[in-house]
Amino acid sequence: PERWKLKKTVVLVGMMGAGKTAVGKALAVRLAVPFLDSDAEIEQAANMSIAEIFARDGEAFFRDRETQVIDRLLEGERGILSTGGGAFLSERNRNLISRKGVSVWLKADLALLWSRVKHKDTRPLLRTADPYGTLRDLYETRLPFYQQADLTVTAQPDYSIDTMAEKVLEAL
Ligand code: S3P
Repeated sequence: PERWKLKKTVVLVGMMGAGKTAVGKALAVRLAVPFLDSDAEIEQAANMSIAEIFARDGEAFFRDRETQVIDRLLEGERGILSTGGGAFLSERNRNLISRKGVSVWLKADLALLWSRVKHKDTRPLLRTADPYGTLRDLYETRLPFYQQADLTVTAQPDYSIDTMAEKVLEAL
């Protein structure tokens, strides 16, 4: 791993399927810093999957947990923090993130996102009659929030996870 002193925790934001978790893990390995994942922390604490939490306690409960977890993780050791796709919509979360971290939007177009999420059943928000339409609507309403990230790195269909990690490093 390279010697790279992180001044702030790098917070990856963006849509489901953008690669936040995969790219975040690769970055953390490269920089030899902790990998932090808000969804995984919420799941561990609840001992339930995200889908189960949504089904049992609802989205509002999940969002509340998400803010608590992001706040706590940003207080800890600096590292790479992968957030859930909805995390950057909340002003409170954006403020927490901008105070303690540097936000990086992993941008990908709708076709690429869809190609990555369509076979998976792990995203409760896409359990609708028209998951593609739902993804498209989420994308459109979320763009103005993601655009507020400090940095943007755009994915391409032919970029590997390591290439994306490299692009993030170049942007930092
Ligand atoms: C969500 C994205 C998910 C997870 C939850 C809600 C969203 O994370 O937090 O299902 O609102 O976009 P990923 O972006 O890692 O799929």
